[in-house]
Amino acid sequence: MSNPSLLILAGDGIGPEVMNEVKKIIGWYGEKRDLAFDVEEDLVGGIAFDTHGTPLTDATMEKAQNADAVLLGAVGGPKYDTLDFSQKPERGLLRLRKEMDLYANLRPAQCFDALADFSSLKRDVVAGLDIVIVRELTSGVYFGEPRGVHKEGNERVGINTQRYTESEIARVARSAFELARRRNNKVCSMEKANVMESGVLWREVVTEIHQAEYPDVELSHMYADAGAMQLCRWPKQFDVIVTDNLFGDLLSDAAAMLTGSLGMLPSASLGAPMANGRPKALYEPVHGSAPDIAGQGKANPIACILSFAMALRYSFDQGAEAERLEKAVETVLADGLRTADLLGPEGGSPISTTQMGDAIVAVLDASL
Ligand code: NAD
Ligand code: IPM
Ligand code: MN
Repeated sequence: MSNPSLLILAGDGIGPEVMNEVKKIIGWYGEKRDLAFDVEEDLVGGIAFDTHGTPLTDATMEKAQNADAVLLGAVGGPKYDTLDFSQKPERGLLRLRKEMDLYANLRPAQCFDALADFSSLKRDVVAGLDIVIVRELTSGVYFGEPRGVHKEGNERVGINTQRYTESEIARVARSAFELARRRNNKVCSMEKANVMESGVLWREVVTEIHQAEYPDVELSHMYADAGAMQLCRWPKQFDVIVTDNLFGDLLSDAAAMLTGSLGMLPSASLGAPMANGRPKALYEPVHGSAPDIAGQGKANPIACILSFAMALRYSFDQGAEAERLEKAVETVLADGLRTADLLGPEGGSPISTTQMGDAIVAVLDASL
């Protein structure tokens, strides 16, 4: 049997820096756990635009469609801010999500005990936190039509449209309920049914799916603005949060600060099962290309490394190996190793991106 295939799209800014550390870990699994992957690398985002004049070529799109899993670093940067909208690095990522139909974006926010005092919230509020935001990823205001900027009389008008079909809501709701059954059996659905018709439909469909298929799961509803407040006030009240594309984007960045740093948050973007029964999947950190620290060896590679752990779990049925990797991350943090983003204003001595990757590999070695 051939090895499972991985397509690596490191992208821009700190993307390649954090992905280098993931490559060490992939190498470690091949060498030490007999878990080899056929790895191919390609371009996405600004680097793809610089090379090919487009943020994602059709050839790369096809490779992504055929890979067992895609690992993505980050895309974007100030250099590309003035590009035509269709050429922007972010369009490459959005095309991957849309064409692979990766509708369920799992964004776990877990607070490692060693970082509980570092979060901007009090230790009590975040210690032991383990929640997952399930963000709808292929529809909503990110993709709705009509959209664009046009002239109305003397002025320009910018338009984006929030649009959800009931089947789009139903499938992501099922993903959230299924996930909750494997966890603490609670789903909180967030929208703004008080002001948006799409929110009214969202609430209705989630309720229908719940009653018909998942009555054993505890379901609650919250307006997304109140949900943002509750996420800061007492995040441990949640288990699984299911929400739309835009609210999920905002809520997951906010949730990052519960864990200490945006450099800690991984994600899995999952679609329908392929012929082999596994979902189409792309794994990426929640953070972006961090232009302010790119090229300085300061980036925290943990979000990207934990995204690979999610790949081991969701794409390769290697739950025990995923846990080994997550445990290794926990151990280096408990040992006091910190990249710069994990140090407070009082400072300390940060280690580099590479040193963090090496430390995790060393703990993996010690786990054998
Ligand atoms: P960002 O996530 O890149 O950075 C926000 C802040 O967090 C910065 O101060 C950055 O230094 C810090 N940070 C982020 N990741 C870090 C890490 N791993 N280690 C240490 N510090 C980290 O968000 P932004 O600055 O708003 O966006 C920059 C660019 O990235 C934009 O072009 C944006 O569109 C793009 N972006 C891409 C993705 C993606 O590829 N999935 C996600 C978000 C933003
Ligand atoms: C994310 C990012 C993306 C989004 C951008 C880069 C397209 O912010 O993955 O959270 O808005 O979805
Ligand atoms: Mn985001």
